[in-house]
Formats: sequence, structure tokens, C-alpha cells
Amino acid sequence: MIKISLLGCGNISRFIANAIDRGIIKCKLVKVFDENQAAIENFNKDISVTVPIADNIEELVKDSDLVVEAASQGAVKEYATKILSSGKNLMIMSVGALADDTLFREMKKIAKKKKLKIYIPSGAIVGLDGVNAAKLVNIDSVEITTRKNPKTLGVDVKEETVLYEGPALGGVKKFPKSVNVAATLGLAGVGLERTNIRVIADPNIDRNIHEIRVKGEFGEFKTITENVPSPQNPKTSWLAALSAIATLKKMCDVVQFGT
Ligand SMILES: NC(=O)c1ccc[n+]([C@@H]2O[C@H](COP(=O)([O-])OP(=O)(O)OC[C@H]3O[C@@H](n4cnc5c(N)ncnc54)[C@H](O)[C@@H]3O)[C@@H](O)[C@H]2O)c1
Repeated sequence: MIKISLLGCGNISRFIANAIDRGIIKCKLVKVFDENQAAIENFNKDISVTVPIADNIEELVKDSDLVVEAASQGAVKEYATKILSSGKNLMIMSVGALADDTLFREMKKIAKKKKLKIYIPSGAIVGLDGVNAAKLVNIDSVEITTRKNPKTLGVDVKEETVLYEGPALGGVKKFPKSVNVAATLGLAGVGLERTNIRVIADPNIDRNIHEIRVKGEFGEFKTITENVPSPQNPKTSWLAALSAIATLKKMCDVVQFGT
């Protein structure tokens, strides 16, 4: 049974802990860590067993096989290389942090040397299976249009407004909490410089909508994901939390579907 530690006790981690608690994922939750005491207290209220709290990152990683980061880009920058250097596999949700090429290269170098895995779930988008296959031949273009309510994007506009259009690299830096999906798509496919993103604030919607278009030698595909926001954190799509759970479940399941 895989032993998991959770870095961050917020929305996504609570979903994961519940899934473990209910036996949906056959993993053991060994420890959690959060810089915010209130988040830790809320976390333990949600599940039937009390999970030990780590006081620092060294304690968090100690007895686990895999650390799941569901905290912040800052946490990835601060802890990702430490976690890998201590010989633990790592799952990353705050994928925007990996737009820092130096950091990501270092992480991959350590993982390769120590024979570890870095897992990056699809998160709130659909279509990475297609990208993974399509990139084995030439890809001409990858585009993503992300449409969210202005409140979710932290802006106040009264009509549909394009807030950013250009390479995903710039979009990830401008909206670090809202466009993790563009980072995932970019890193999985043709890179953040060649992946084009449009971020649109739309006061008429209450869902986080991502439209992806990929064209290449294989042909082309388009996916549209209309996400219901998580009840506890509207910035996070429910599908993102479910995707984290599905990634963990896939590690434990005998049969694996999809590319
Ligand atoms: N990949 C995706 O598609 C996707 C989708 C949604 C959210 N996310 C990202 O996943 C992460 C978690 O999302 P969430 O909804 O659970 O957020 P959340 O705000 O509900 O919870 C994050 C928790 O992490 C803690 N935290 C933050 N930085 C920390 C640090 N340096 N050390 C220790 N604890 C720290 C916070 O105190 C908080 O309790 C966020 O970065 C979010 O942007 C990714």
C-alpha cells in the first residue's frame, strides 16, 4: 500500500483525504503539513481518523513513499527539490511553479538520479491523453482559452474582457493561481513559449471553462471542459481535485485506462 503525505491541508488535500478515508484510493495517509494552523484544524474535522501533523518538511516526508503537493507555487519552489532529494516521489498540483525552467530541470535531474517519479495530474482540463500521443509526431499549434468569472480571476469587470493573450509562460506568471492548466498543457506538449493562452473574465458565467485546440500531423482535436467550482474554494475546479484522486487511484489500480 502506497504511503502518502500531503503538503497543504486545503481544498484539494481534503478531497484526497476523504477519498482515502472512504477506501476509494487504497493508499495510507501517513502525515500532513500546512503553514496555517486553521487549515490543519479544518482538515482533521473532515475525516474519520486523525492524521498526524508534521512540524516541518523533513518530518512530513519521513515515512512516506509519495508527497502530494496541494499548497502553492511558493511551496513547490521551497520544497520540491528537498522532497525529491530525500528519495520520495512527488505529485504536483501547483503546476505553474514549473514554468521556472531551472527549477523543473533540477527536479527532473534529481528524480532521474534517484529513480523517482514526478506526477502531474491533468487537473481541470480534458485532453492531455491526446497531447501525449499527438506529440510523438509534429504538433503545429496548441491553444487554450480559459474563461472564468471576474471574481475568480481577482478583477472587477462588467462585461466579457480578454485579460491576457499570448504565450502560456506570461499567462502563468500573470495569473499564478488560475492558469495551472495552461502550465500543465504547455509542459505536456510543445512548451510554455509555444502554447498560446487567452484568459477571459466573463461576468455571465459561474463555471471555469477551458477550451483546448491542438493541431498537428495527427489531425486536430478540440476539448471543452466546463468546471463546477469546488464549494470550499471557487478558484479550484472540482474536476482538479477529482483528477488528483484519479491519479493516485491509477497508481494503485490493476487495470489502467487511457494513454
Ligand atoms: N493543476 C490544476 O489544474 C489545479 C487546479 C486547481 C488548483 N490548483 C492548485 O493547487 C493548489 C492547491 O489548491 P487548493 O484549492 O487545495 O488550495 P487551498 O488554498 O484550498 O489550500 C492550500 C493550502 O496550502 C497551504 N499552503 C500554501 N503554501 C504553503 C506552504 N508554503 N507551506 C505549507 N502550506 C502551504 C495553505 O495554508 C492552504 O491551507 C493551489 O496552488 C492551486 O492553485 C491546481
